[in-house]
Amino acid sequence: MKNTTKHILNCTFTAVMFAIALTFMLGAFTTRVSFGADTKTIDSAVVDDSVTESLKTPSKPDINIVSMKSQVYIKWKACKNANSYEVWRKSKGKSWEKIDVTSKKKYTDKDVAKGCEYKYRIRAVNKGSKDSVKSAYSSTKSVSVSAIDPDKKMVALTFDDGPGPYTQAIVNCLKKYGMHATFFVVGSNISHYSKALKAEAASGCEIANHTWGHVYLPKQSTGGMLKQVVNTNKKIKAITGVTPKLLRPPYGATSAGVKSAIKMPQIMWSIDTLDWKTRNTAKTVASVMNNVKDGSIVLMHDIHKPTMKAALQIIPKLVSKGYQLVTVSELAEYKGVELKNGKAYSSIH
Ligand code: NI
Repeated sequence: MKNTTKHILNCTFTAVMFAIALTFMLGAFTTRVSFGADTKTIDSAVVDDSVTESLKTPSKPDINIVSMKSQVYIKWKACKNANSYEVWRKSKGKSWEKIDVTSKKKYTDKDVAKGCEYKYRIRAVNKGSKDSVKSAYSSTKSVSVSAIDPDKKMVALTFDDGPGPYTQAIVNCLKKYGMHATFFVVGSNISHYSKALKAEAASGCEIANHTWGHVYLPKQSTGGMLKQVVNTNKKIKAITGVTPKLLRPPYGATSAGVKSAIKMPQIMWSIDTLDWKTRNTAKTVASVMNNVKDGSIVLMHDIHKPTMKAALQIIPKLVSKGYQLVTVSELAEYKGVELKNGKAYSSIH
């Protein structure tokens, strides 16, 4: 019995010791596994931290639309901490798309359709070996790609002495054909027809300066000339938000004094329809259609009803003959002519 008990105790002791040993071994094994897993996690966190720490967030870029013809040119200044830039574009009715990643500070978008509108934004990127950090997006810039084909014929229709009661009808007709004209407005008329002036601007037409009181500029003092022009520019800016760039001196009357005092290009004409004199729709139409050439600048007056009626015929006739009806500034831009202050132009080729 004693021996039996001793044997049992021995067996129990062995079993307990075995169990303890087994638990310890298993425990050690578990610990080693978990330690290994921890090490691995810590290692990868250390790698990630080192990448993130070396990459500073780039500064937010500025975006500039440089110029637009049948392409869109975008440029921006270098951003701090950036080594590349993402160019994003949004076409009408579509979502934003990343169209390029470049280390340059400019991008030319050739994949644009004429007459369409696009939005652009830039994001600076600091790209490391394993990770990258991005800046906030630049502001968004919209651009309308011109529908003008520089290789096709162009004519600049110009209307003087308005705005008046017939202006809106001419603007509506231009809009219908997707065409533009230039309106040389008289400052003192603007308050009475400010709605027509706004319609001119909204349709993409150019608003230009024809003095405040339709005065003969060469007889004015320098101060008088400037008052006539500056007050008109201010009034136009107040209503349309755009400051006129071009002047047409009333009666086409200019002088060395006018040219040096007024820092604007002076726009004359190559086709004088004499619409104000004839007040005849058929004669005005014939005058334009018989004399028009690529680069012509046509003089008419939107304050006369027969001229308005003539314009409603002239616009579709010119379009059907393949002419693009452009503003004077567009004509100069697409013909590659830089309009200079104080210089007079009667046609632009
Ligand atoms: Ni006039």
